Amino acid sequence: MLNPSKRSKNTLLFTALFCQVSAGMAADSAGVPQNLATTDTIPLFKRLPTLEKRIPRLPILEQFTPHERLTKLEQDIASQAGLTENPFQGRLTIKRDDLSSNQLGGNKARKLEFLIGQAKQNRATTLVTSGMWGSNHALATAVAAKQNGLKATMILGPQPLTENVRQKLLSMHTLGANLRFHSHLVGMGFDIAKYYIKAKFSGGNLYYIPSGGSSERGELGYVNAFLELSQQVGLEQLPERIVVPVGTMGTAAGLLVGSCIAGVFEKVQIVGIGIAMPLLSNERSARKEAKKLHRFIRNQVEKSDRVTIPDCDYDSEKAFSFVTQYYSPGYGAAKPVIFETIDRVNRLENIHLDRTYSGKAMQFIIDEFSASYQKKLRPPSTLFWLTYNSHDLNDFIDPYPWKNFAEKWRELPSSFWQLFSGELPLETNLDPSASE
Ligand SMILES: Cc1ncc(COP(=O)(O)O)c(C=O)c1O
Repeated sequence: MLNPSKRSKNTLLFTALFCQVSAGMAADSAGVPQNLATTDTIPLFKRLPTLEKRIPRLPILEQFTPHERLTKLEQDIASQAGLTENPFQGRLTIKRDDLSSNQLGGNKARKLEFLIGQAKQNRATTLVTSGMWGSNHALATAVAAKQNGLKATMILGPQPLTENVRQKLLSMHTLGANLRFHSHLVGMGFDIAKYYIKAKFSGGNLYYIPSGGSSERGELGYVNAFLELSQQVGLEQLPERIVVPVGTMGTAAGLLVGSCIAGVFEKVQIVGIGIAMPLLSNERSARKEAKKLHRFIRNQVEKSDRVTIPDCDYDSEKAFSFVTQYYSPGYGAAKPVIFETIDRVNRLENIHLDRTYSGKAMQFIIDEFSASYQKKLRPPSTLFWLTYNSHDLNDFIDPYPWKNFAEKWRELPSSFWQLFSGELPLETNLDPSASE
């Protein structure tokens, strides 16, 4: 049985562990692949045509995700700051990766295009990855595995228990994923290492995906995402700032490298909001991740493309900033103000945020805009990159032929039962409808 008093400490440690393991294992050393990409040319392959020869991609996104204004929210922030009219309208927009791909939406869809592309090329039969019990990444990987006729193994570790976490576990089960329970981080780390080594010696059969899908290949999804935005709005109309939550750092690193490759480095600042343990998910590591990704791309392309990639100083403060204040009270937990923000955005814009990632990133924007409005200053034009998939999990759970509908959880491995039986209580101070 888990000791609830140890949970927040465990969560911190787990975050450290998963980041560390991902960072250590993320290097992509695949050989020269045959091209499995579709006939559609994505912005990344348009910009660097020789990359397409080397990087297989399985299309998941059917179209560009919407780019919209958040007019009502902007007006509401202005009213709260005491402005009857908002003289600075049009400063706040959103990139809706929540709509990237129905069941498999959120930021994972973009990463998985490249990860599953390589897994299929390697003729893998099984994907293995890791995350928290309620991991968005693990769920998205389970969906992608099912859609592509692959098996999936998920190595899952502790986080604050909510109803949403339970639903994610049931959803992964309905998708046929093999779920491996861990209540402690050390055991989980060993399990990840074991599967990583297994994958290395599996002759390609087992494909290892680091936590959060943050290997260089996965991160290409966000290099492409930046180029997609540039194509969508035009280079001259890009926002001054893009705000994005940072966990395993791949999304922010991808956007930062994207801004370099698009030729607008330092014109658009990527602002990362740290939501995971600062020891390993931090500014220095994020900058390092971007440098590694930049090198990876340079090494993959032919000379004709290489000469077109600018040199960018990834230590630049103008190009990237990292905000640490929103992490507290820890991964997967949030202060009451975050729940108010989640409700506010839902009520005004009909957009669903979560408390772990997107709620905290949005809170940063609201705080910054409020401070500007109070001083009657124009805030920088800001794009909120929504990375969360708010797809209704009941779509997975309800149609499944459970043997015992009242106690569905009994079909999960018995090690998970304590998360459903009341042995480990739900986090009652947290809004149960607010997702992981
Ligand atoms: C909804 C959501 N937003 C943001 C992130 C952070 O992305 P990254 O891990 O690439 O930093 C995650 C990652 O797990 C996520 O699930």
